[in-house]
Amino acid sequence: MRTTSPQAELKDYRMPPSAVPETDVELLPIAERNELKASIKILLKQHNAVLVAHYYTDADLQMLADETGGCVSDSLEMARFGIRTEAQTLIVCGVRFMGETAKILNPEKRVLMPTLAAECSLDIGCPSAAFNALCDAHPDRTVVVYANTSAAVKARADWMVTSGSAVDVIRHLHAQGQKFIWAPDQYLGQYVQEQTGADMLLWRGACIVHEEFKGIELEQLRRQHPRAKVLVHPESPAAVIRQADVVGSTTGIIQAVITLDAEEFIVATDKGIFHKLRELAPGKTFIEAPTAGRSATCKSCAHCPWMAMNTLRRTVQTLESGANEIAVAPEIIKRANLPIKRLLDFTQQQKQLAGDA
Ligand code: 13P
Ligand code: SF4
Repeated sequence: MRTTSPQAELKDYRMPPSAVPETDVELLPIAERNELKASIKILLKQHNAVLVAHYYTDADLQMLADETGGCVSDSLEMARFGIRTEAQTLIVCGVRFMGETAKILNPEKRVLMPTLAAECSLDIGCPSAAFNALCDAHPDRTVVVYANTSAAVKARADWMVTSGSAVDVIRHLHAQGQKFIWAPDQYLGQYVQEQTGADMLLWRGACIVHEEFKGIELEQLRRQHPRAKVLVHPESPAAVIRQADVVGSTTGIIQAVITLDAEEFIVATDKGIFHKLRELAPGKTFIEAPTAGRSATCKSCAHCPWMAMNTLRRTVQTLESGANEIAVAPEIIKRANLPIKRLLDFTQQQKQLAGDA
């Protein structure tokens, strides 16, 4: 009798290209952008608010966050910053799971977003009822979820991890003999599995942006730029990760550009990151990794449609009206806080150990 493995039985939760919204970038005359930026600065002061922005958002929003004492970072540091700041209102410019994480860690603060429609294909592709059913079916496995999940999914998890911490956390728990349920990004999960050798049951979700990077076209591009270093976010498919000189979170990619002795880089992540790369390494050359070619077309074309929904206009409207507030039920906050705090404590301990070494 043939039996199928639990992995083979898992449903494919990737979002079809037809369901992905168009990436609609806010194109405004410079004078209007400057007026909106000036308004945001005034409104932030009036409301004791700060901007907490991801590297994939509009370059002007990133600059404003930097100039006004907010933060521009990867998802791990966005979570940490919300705790550190004294501001009572956090304007999270990113996607909804980032707003929810900020609220879970800071329930007493007001967390607003330029729009609550800014989703994430990984979060959408991991509905909590189906996820709970998987966890119920495998009670012997430690449940590790990526930050890109809803508050309800985090509330079922033992650990939350980010792209910058996943390998270290799984390696640590694997050394204790634990087996895992991993959700929702299958590519990041495969990468972590390869790096650690851990037994991981992988949810089959994907990021619609990183999944579009193409291995064959990347090989061709590398031949045209033999000196370029290849930097890849681990949400990308294995054929792309395999060609990387550095695999890292958005912060990892930025660090690589600063520290590597190279002048040219091929970058496989959302093109929003190019603003920070050019700011921090102005003399260096950055090339977008290919998302299309003879074998494919692209839909997001390396820019997340949901990140692009964070516009200057919407930021002004949110600050003026107090709309788009993130709400998470108290019992979910209580439970979801555990896996997030575990990660923050773990990364803090690792920093201390690295400092002592
Ligand atoms: P980072 O944690 O690397 O910033 O990634 C967040 C994300 O959504 C990547 O698509
Ligand atoms: Fe989600 Fe991908 Fe957009 Fe990041 S880039 S928010 S993982 S859809």
